Amino acid sequence: MAEQFSYNEKGHLLFGGLDTIDLAKKYGTPLFVYDVEKIRENARAFVETFQKHGIKAQVAYASKAFSSIAMVQVAKQENLSLDVVSQGGELYTALQAGFPVDKIHFHGNNKSLEELRMAIESKIGCIVIDNFHEMVLLESLLAEYDATMDVLIRVTPGIEAHTHDYILTGNEDSKFGFDLTNGQADKAIQQLLAKERIHLKGLHCHIGSQIFETDGFMMAVERLFEKLAEWSKSYQFTAEVLNLGGGFGIRYTSEDEPLPLEKYVESLIEKVSSQTNKYNMVFPEIWIEPGRSIVGDACITLYSIGSIKEIPNVRKYVAVDGGMTDNLRPALYQAKYEAVVANKAQQPSDEEVSIAGKCCESGDMLIWDIMLPEVEANDILAVFSTGAYGYSMANHYNRFTKPAVVFVEKGKDQLVVKRESYQDLVTNDLSYEEE
Ligand code: LLP
Repeated sequence: MAEQFSYNEKGHLLFGGLDTIDLAKKYGTPLFVYDVEKIRENARAFVETFQKHGIKAQVAYASKAFSSIAMVQVAKQENLSLDVVSQGGELYTALQAGFPVDKIHFHGNNKSLEELRMAIESKIGCIVIDNFHEMVLLESLLAEYDATMDVLIRVTPGIEAHTHDYILTGNEDSKFGFDLTNGQADKAIQQLLAKERIHLKGLHCHIGSQIFETDGFMMAVERLFEKLAEWSKSYQFTAEVLNLGGGFGIRYTSEDEPLPLEKYVESLIEKVSSQTNKYNMVFPEIWIEPGRSIVGDACITLYSIGSIKEIPNVRKYVAVDGGMTDNLRPALYQAKYEAVVANKAQQPSDEEVSIAGKCCESGDMLIWDIMLPEVEANDILAVFSTGAYGYSMANHYNRFTKPAVVFVEKGKDQLVVKRESYQDLVTNDLSYEEE
């Protein structure tokens, strides 16, 4: 990772062309710094590959990876669609950012009546139906509003992708979607096709995240087409849209070998093309939902180094001013990251240390056993590829304030999310008056 970056004459790490030490001084640490040009480059790799092949497509940025008004605005500038999920908050953010409502897709395995109401009232483009309960809620609301809604049906094709291998599960043990093999999806589609106010545009599936190979996606497409062929006969149903989800892998460490983003798109196009030929079907619109692969490698987190604890013949712990509150992934998934000391970026890395967070939790370790130059208090550590599921999973454990987020582009930096204050932390707290 580190080798992709450049340094200035002071030996300071540059990011988006700017001196990271200046950024740390100006905004404080921990600090998320996004290189907007890199976000655009990633988005364009998807969009332009579809265009190059003349395929009608929507590339929906999965905003769960990182949602903020500025980020949604960048997605809008890049002509992306937007996947919002789970609670109304991502939808609210999209609306606040002025994102085109007809390109918003709403996901989630337990959408509430209020959230569905919000989706209908704001006239979003599409709801991805996940379960029977939601179908009933949506139908009653559409009647109340005298409205109609385009939907996709989320199906689980029985493939679970774990980065390098694929597990084919017979009966799909997933909280999401309708199973393709046990009759659930058939029942759902029968019911949906009978609903006047619901317009079923097609199918959705998402097989996992941080996937490096295309085989899992290919298997999923085959399964979807087997089912579509069946449904074409039994219900005269033709899918206008196939949404194949997100999950394209990125490089966190030099051990990771993701495919170029264009390659994922090209494989999907090829497979959909061969399947439409096989079953003599019309080529559908292809939608995808990349999150991580748009923002993940476009960001670094800057931390200040504080205490250093050396246990002779055991380990040297180097503590930073953040940790599992701004990056839960190492604690939650044993995720691995690489880092450099941003103010000593050109010094030889000849000491093995482990980077600890400052939460009251032994598991709050950001990186185990990394080679760095000799570190001292007040050095700045830059951790790479923290753009996805970092800020979006940040939390207030130990009453941490969430960090600031800065966007850099064309040599300029701009604060896009303010650092939380202690006052922000207690803003919803009320005092308890003893009777
Ligand atoms: N579409 C659906 C329906 C999804 O569930 C997800 C991710 C995506 C798209 C975007 O996937 P991506 O392109 O970002 O891989 N917190 C975990 C990742 C959870 C992913 C959840 N769903 C992590 O930090 O690795």
